[in-house]
Amino acid sequence: MSGRGGTRDEGGIAAAWERLRALETPRLAALFAGDDARVAAMTRRIVWHAGPDSDAEAGMRIDFSKTHLGDNELAAFEALAEASGFAAAREALFSGGIVNPTEGRAATHGALRGSGTPAQVEEAEALLARMGMLVEAIHEGALGEIRHCIAIGIGGSALGPALAVDALTRDLALVDVHVVSNIDGLALEQAFAACDPARTLIAVASKTFTTIETMTNADSALKWLAESGVADPGGRVVALTASPEKAVEWGVDETRVLPFPESVGGRYSLFSSIGFPVALAVGMEEFAAMLAGAKAVDDHFRSAEGRANAPLLAAFADQFYTRLKGCQTRAVFAYDERLALLPDYLQQLEMESNGKSVTVEGAPVDGPTAPVTWGGVGTDAQHAVFQLLHQGTHLVPVDFIAAIAPGDDLDPAHHRTLLMNCLAQGAALMAGKASEDPARAYPGDRPSTTFLLDDCDAAALGALIAFHEHRTFANAVLMGINPFDQFGVELGKAIAKQIDAGEGDFDPSTRALMMAAGLT
Ligand code: F6P
Repeated sequence: MSGRGGTRDEGGIAAAWERLRALETPRLAALFAGDDARVAAMTRRIVWHAGPDSDAEAGMRIDFSKTHLGDNELAAFEALAEASGFAAAREALFSGGIVNPTEGRAATHGALRGSGTPAQVEEAEALLARMGMLVEAIHEGALGEIRHCIAIGIGGSALGPALAVDALTRDLALVDVHVVSNIDGLALEQAFAACDPARTLIAVASKTFTTIETMTNADSALKWLAESGVADPGGRVVALTASPEKAVEWGVDETRVLPFPESVGGRYSLFSSIGFPVALAVGMEEFAAMLAGAKAVDDHFRSAEGRANAPLLAAFADQFYTRLKGCQTRAVFAYDERLALLPDYLQQLEMESNGKSVTVEGAPVDGPTAPVTWGGVGTDAQHAVFQLLHQGTHLVPVDFIAAIAPGDDLDPAHHRTLLMNCLAQGAALMAGKASEDPARAYPGDRPSTTFLLDDCDAAALGALIAFHEHRTFANAVLMGINPFDQFGVELGKAIAKQIDAGEGDFDPSTRALMMAAGLT
């Protein structure tokens, strides 16, 4: 295969799929009945240091045993990975190879946490140190008293910071951060209402520094500061970008521009300066813990082979359900309020990366690519959408994510009930229940994977994010597609510009809607 540093053996790929298609899929219950060692064989644990000065171990356990993967499937998927050039592609990812050939770029998000070439890691460390100095200076009052930060960005420049700020500031926020993404002015007005302009910093996060939503919101935020009597609104702006020259041109002082490398993709950028609002809210030590959790997963992903590699094993399950069982969606339920925004984050990561129809070479892909990622929070979702999961006609592989340590200080009954519900759902989906009354029968045999974090802290969040980055990459390699471009988002942007200019050959429906909406 060209473009990713690996070689695809098309004959080997076809043979592996043929082998997979020929296998009969036993019911999950049968997989357990015939194999006492199944849970151990299908569970992975990834660990890291519990703290910067601690030798104690923390980590996450991932139980894949309630998927339909057995020895035969795993062997065939390992053959598929080999034929797809997985090892070489992974090496190319971490060594700065051009893994994004349509844009001629490497993908160096790993280097942000120390997993890259020495030069990339050195550059990332220098940029992180620069961000750390600015964060600390702001905490010490260099820009006056800063209590709030309105972090403006969209897509990859907002979803990661929003998730991390929401997850990690439940107990304490050094600065009260509001992430605003939507161009709908209501979103920004809501942030204004929650912030004291005299004590508010504006962080403008945009890889390109051209995104219309972000630049319009940034202009309005500056206007709000000025109209509220802030003497030097421009002095309250920090820019987080891979286009520092554009930020300077827009008016941000160079000392408050935090750059990141062009080779870091938007949806892979939380660990770059795009994470500045997170660092501002939780401090650099916590930010470093997030990086350390991600690094532990990088190390695992780089070194573990075949089925021992947890993100690759997750990709095997994804491919199994999407390509062999026709599943069009995959659901993620976080049994932890702190991870409420994780499904949103994963939607962009997985759907913008792998929602493609052509291979790296530009040929049509020979099967379905990314399923629709969706999900929510347990136990809420149980009372809303789980009916379909248990008895609906769609087969939906589910990921459950929970933490052993509670995040609340209330009666332990809260956390116990949360956890027992999480485990009960996976068990119920698998076991099902016969009934003479068809309306009360559960077919069962429905797959799930359970992620059990020791604690839902910064390191675990970093680990979860890196896990899903690598799972997404592994899926892309198995399908032969480029996960690092996103040309599918461009056409709509171009037509919006045409509507704005009133120039374009619009279809009758759009013309009528433009008239009705007052856009002509
Ligand atoms: O429109 C999609 C997209 O380009 C995403 O890939 C990206 O995360 C988002 O827009 C924001 O882009 P930027 O960070 O350049 O403002």
